Amino acid sequence: MPAHNLCMQIQQTEQAQRAQQAQQSDRAQFIRSLRSVRRFAPTPIPDDILREVLDIGRWTGSSKNTQPWQVVVVRDRDRLRDLATCGTFAGHLAGAAVGLVLVMEDDNRRLDEGRLAQNLMLAAWAYGIGTCIGTLQPEANVERAKQLLGIPLERGVRTTLSVGYPADPQALRGSAGGVQPGRKPMADFLRWETFSDA
Ligand SMILES: Cc1cc2nc3c(=O)[nH]c(=O)nc-3n(C[C@H](O)[C@H](O)[C@H](O)COP(=O)(O)O)c2cc1C
Repeated sequence: MPAHNLCMQIQQTEQAQRAQQAQQSDRAQFIRSLRSVRRFAPTPIPDDILREVLDIGRWTGSSKNTQPWQVVVVRDRDRLRDLATCGTFAGHLAGAAVGLVLVMEDDNRRLDEGRLAQNLMLAAWAYGIGTCIGTLQPEANVERAKQLLGIPLERGVRTTLSVGYPADPQALRGSAGGVQPGRKPMADFLRWETFSDA
């Protein structure tokens, strides 16, 4: 192969590697950038995008692939307002374009529930749509939410997601009242090899 062809081939390989690294770093930053959004624009979520987000949720892994869940999609404004009163800090549901209610087989599926919630949140965020968890509590409110949506009493219903386009750039930085933003430093987060790695 002539020397200048070899040179071009090396350049192209290096360019492709740099492009791949940039893509990987974008994907990693996308995951890190997921924040809770509690104020929403009135813009509706297009049906095909909402269905795509829900389908990504459907593909969440679960213990022994039991898929112990259904998701109730709530768009009726009055129903969203009622749901918003079923949690101490679930007020953001009232202004969401869509509310998602995670209905688990029973109350012992918390890891599966968390994975489903996180996947739905990341799927929405991939489309620039914000989300926030609204926990249903205390128990009387859980029962009220079940009645409101016709969910059998034996099902586990703790977690709702408010879903909608962020109201403004500030809505992407909002933290809940009294809740510390940011994260603990790496040194507090990690232990290497054993818990007491000092
Ligand atoms: C299990 C769980 C329950 C939560 N419940 C609520 C809630 O009821 N209301 C709310 O506004 N945010 C709720 N959140 C969101 C947290 O407040 C939020 O994730 C945390 O403050 C970090 O902020 P960030 O998500 O913007 O990074 C909940 C989060 C988790 C993981």
